[in-house]
Amino acid sequence: MKDEEFRNWVTELKSRCDIVTVISRYCNVVQRGRNYWCCCPFHIEKTPSLCIYDYEQVYHCYGCKEHGDVITFVRKMESCDYMQAVEILAKSVGMEVPTFTKSNEEEIVKRKKEKDAVFSVLAEANKHYQANLLTPDAKLAQDYIKKRKLGRRELEEFGLGYSISPQEIITYLKDKGYSTETMSKAGLIDKGEWGGFYDHFSQRLTFPLYNIHGDCIGFSARILVDDKTKAKYKNSPTTIVFDKSNTIFGINLVRKNKQTMNFNNVVIVEGQMDVIAMHKGGFRNAVACLGTAFTNQHAKLLKLISNNVVVCLDGDGAGQKAAYKIVDILAENGFNVKCVLIPDGNDPDEYINKFGAEKMKELLDNAINYIDFQIDYLARDVDFSKSDEKSKFVRNALDLLNKLGTGSEKQVYLKHIKQLSGVPIDILQQDLFNSGKVISKEIDVSSNIHNIEDGNNKAIKFILASMVYKKEYVKPYDIGRFLHNDTYKRLYELILNKKKNGEELKISLLYDEFDLEDEPNLVDIINYNFEQNGNNEKYYEECLWNLYEKEYKQKQAELNDKFKECTDVNKRKEILNEISQLSRKLKNKVMEE
Ligand code: UTP
Ligand code: MN
Repeated sequence: MKDEEFRNWVTELKSRCDIVTVISRYCNVVQRGRNYWCCCPFHIEKTPSLCIYDYEQVYHCYGCKEHGDVITFVRKMESCDYMQAVEILAKSVGMEVPTFTKSNEEEIVKRKKEKDAVFSVLAEANKHYQANLLTPDAKLAQDYIKKRKLGRRELEEFGLGYSISPQEIITYLKDKGYSTETMSKAGLIDKGEWGGFYDHFSQRLTFPLYNIHGDCIGFSARILVDDKTKAKYKNSPTTIVFDKSNTIFGINLVRKNKQTMNFNNVVIVEGQMDVIAMHKGGFRNAVACLGTAFTNQHAKLLKLISNNVVVCLDGDGAGQKAAYKIVDILAENGFNVKCVLIPDGNDPDEYINKFGAEKMKELLDNAINYIDFQIDYLARDVDFSKSDEKSKFVRNALDLLNKLGTGSEKQVYLKHIKQLSGVPIDILQQDLFNSGKVISKEIDVSSNIHNIEDGNNKAIKFILASMVYKKEYVKPYDIGRFLHNDTYKRLYELILNKKKNGEELKISLLYDEFDLEDEPNLVDIINYNFEQNGNNEKYYEECLWNLYEKEYKQKQAELNDKFKECTDVNKRKEILNEISQLSRKLKNKVMEE
């Protein structure tokens, strides 16, 4: 999508949208010395730690490490995607976003029309269901609402409504000029066996579903009578505007709340009634998926709100099992993940209603790291007096740690595993070492450096970050051959090119050159925290050596195999010679071009 023409246009846009001016629209910016400062809107603080670099046209928060250019800032601030941020900025300076899709323009226009019609009928239905709830025909729903202790505020905020009968809304919408075809496309009505239409949500309490911008995209509706043959909740079918695996209940509200309230995480609960109970209890940052598997798409959407998530699903077996999986997906998507286990199998709604919001707050404040949660989960039902059960637990628990980066991080969890199993730390460490070797071998084969932070990837990130930030300790080694993914290669080339031409590499350029949304490694490089390594110059040497060492060892292993297979005496000598040269390099830590 990012072709040359569009890139140039974005560069033009950025040159007209001065970052200091744009941030000043949202924050109280003051000039201090060369740079500009304000309180960071992405975390809670009283003294300014967000610095705006006028010359580079980027910002960096020294508190929470948020970093980016003017487009990133608007995206984060408005919780929207790249193109929407571009649109907002373009509008503010009177530029028009170009379309680059002339060839299938007709198709796009047609689809847009269709979507607009669906949005329109959904908005009308939403209004009507809500109005229904206040009429005498909605007695069933009103009684139910009382039973669930929902007040006027919740009803309005979440737009709860009622479908009076199978036909009522169809008649109403027809009067308003909508066709059954449009209603059908919107997922509002179904076709019966005799060819007639009826309301998909008939005689149910309706919960409107919204996208992040607040457009109604469908409904989820709860049954109000005791009928085990019917689903408790019925959701809209997939339509051109609705897809369950891409929808998060409450996200529009949380997005809005975030602009006025300084919360720094999102809480994921299981059901929509839980979301409502949480908001009623003052937790204005709760969302839920619609009883469906958590996907990477959900994760991407959540990223627009926060990097920190607390998973607080139902306390029963099913909820915990789901939580065990969700936390992995979240962690893989770069979130800081914590978990809450609600006692006695309660869901958040039940817990708040029984014990009050204060107690819920205690649970949330004491949320544990997701690895600890997973270890506890594995320990459930394990009989530690049986050695086979115990060793299976230890094996599985250690496998969890192989996902983690640094050694010191793992130590913390080893203690936890020891506490549960009684296996001494040094034995666990040995086991971890052994299991880690197996795993890293598998990674080498697929060279999958996206999912798992192996040592190599860490080293490369640091070296590239050092180059990007022009650190004085960087030496002119050619590291090109160590780079195993295209992004790294492109970045490296860019750095070398700029250097060759005597040009400066501005950080803001990276935001134009790459789709950062899909490049977590690159974001890490841009936001690199050089304070974490202690002595960076020494660490640089270590990292470089890391790469060479790995390469030498790999060559050595290959030569060893060759040697074993070789029968020619002279060749064997040659190979031996090469092996001993490699050994010398390894011993003396020789790093060659
Ligand atoms: P739960 O069964 O935990 O619902 O399902 P809940 O939120 O506690 O519901 P109440 O309190 O009985 O009203 C969690 C979520 O799974 C989806 C719904 O989104 C629900 O909120 N679900 C559940 C369905 O989509 N269909 C169903 O039949 C049941
Ligand atoms: Mn419930």
